[in-house]
Amino acid sequence: MHVFDRKKELTLFLETERSKNRTVGLVPTMGALHQGHISLVKTALLQNDLVVVSVFVNPTQFDKKDDLKKYPRNLEKDIHLLKSVSNNIVVFTPSVDEMYGDNIASQAYEFDGLDKVMEGAFREGHFDGVGTIVELFLKTVSPDKAYFGEKDFQQLQIIRKMVESKKLPYQIVGCPIEREPSGLAMSSRNERLSKKAREDASFIYKTLLTAKTKFGTESAYVISEWVQSQFEKNEVLELEYFEIADESTLTPLLKKQVNKNYRAFIAVYADGIRLIDNLKLN
Ligand code: PAF
Repeated sequence: MHVFDRKKELTLFLETERSKNRTVGLVPTMGALHQGHISLVKTALLQNDLVVVSVFVNPTQFDKKDDLKKYPRNLEKDIHLLKSVSNNIVVFTPSVDEMYGDNIASQAYEFDGLDKVMEGAFREGHFDGVGTIVELFLKTVSPDKAYFGEKDFQQLQIIRKMVESKKLPYQIVGCPIEREPSGLAMSSRNERLSKKAREDASFIYKTLLTAKTKFGTESAYVISEWVQSQFEKNEVLELEYFEIADESTLTPLLKKQVNKNYRAFIAVYADGIRLIDNLKLN
């Protein structure tokens, strides 16, 4: 398995591979890899000859310095895990300097309002930071396809929008959420939870499942009130938002329409750690 930390070396290597007609997939990550990432990598391996996994904790997408500082990092463990998956993986682990030079800043994007709700409303500048680094990785690697998890569904839609509006020639593939046996969505942040909080956090998915059942008969407003009341009774978890929204525009559902797909989105604090999840409702 090859590991590169320089753009130039990576692109030279990829040029040679492409000259042999090998297709390239990209899985951008911030490391602290878990089975959720591995399922993206496995899907990418099925659809491409070679898969580049970038491991880079992107400073411009963190709105809180402390969150950036505490973000779990374990490159050796990540490389070891990827080695156990396949030899057709190339790991790209650039430094902040390599990606940003001396201007560690985001570009300003127009995401047609997709960035103004939910995560965007609570995490100032987050999606401009994500857009900036994903565009940099896409342009560096020039993959045939790039893979993103549906756990960050809003991020996935925003990346699709960016690729479409900038007419970038890469196919964006969304992959389903991987869950722990308790139902908790897999996330690098789960590592920071105490054993008790990790168990308690399974309540998030259970609540989403009940919301889905209610979706057949009740309005978004009634379901949201019910979710809020459930979290008010919960002493460990603190609800930041619960939203039922149109999958393509991410606008909150006011009145159900036929032929539209809706999804429930949630953000919750457990042990001071922010967790997000979502579930397709119809
Ligand atoms: O989803 C993530 O881990 C990050 O937002 C991404 C896409 C790797 C960009 O830093």
